[in-house]
Amino acid sequence: MPSTPPNVRQDPDRRGRRTVAAAATATAVLVLALFAAPRAGADEQSVAVFSEAQVEAGAAIYTQNCAVCHGTAFEGMGSFPVLAGAVFQERWEGRPLGDLYAFVSTNMPLGAGGSLEPDAYAAVVARLLDRNGVEPGPDAFDPTDEAALGVVLTFGD
Ligand code: HEC
Repeated sequence: MPSTPPNVRQDPDRRGRRTVAAAATATAVLVLALFAAPRAGADEQSVAVFSEAQVEAGAAIYTQNCAVCHGTAFEGMGSFPVLAGAVFQERWEGRPLGDLYAFVSTNMPLGAGGSLEPDAYAAVVARLLDRNGVEPGPDAFDPTDEAALGVVLTFGD
């Protein structure tokens, strides 16, 4: 028995279907390429937008205000999300630093959003980025600086 039914060859639609299939494959390849492109420099990281001093201050703020839910090692607990590693990084990759700052300063600590000073929020965000492998630099993160807020987050592997 032939593996292909004989009527397939006579099917007037076959040529059209093949073209559609080829186009679909080409589209899939293109979409993959578009998704792959930003990952090409996967070892690149956000330009330094916060200082080492902020990381240190942020570590203490995190311990006092965040660790109770997110864990001392940022590992998360139950429904409290992990704040380090792939899950966190995939969520924030490609988004502006201002989005992360706004989310944290508006919503965290859960139930007491906005309760810390802007400097404290800036420091704890610096510690979050540091914990996710972004290197500190010479200048502190100033959350009133539009240029800093517009920096696109990129995490290394
Ligand atoms: C009472 C528990 C609690 C405390 C304290 C708390 N959080 Fe959260 N946090 C949550 C919960 C629950 C979510 C998920 C809510 C959501 O995504 O809308 C969350 C989400 C987050 C996220 C987003 C997670 C993601 O995957 O993007 C960040 C960032 C964050 N918290 C940072 C902080 C920081 C920084 C502090 C301390 C200043 C803090 N949280 C304190 C419970 C808490």
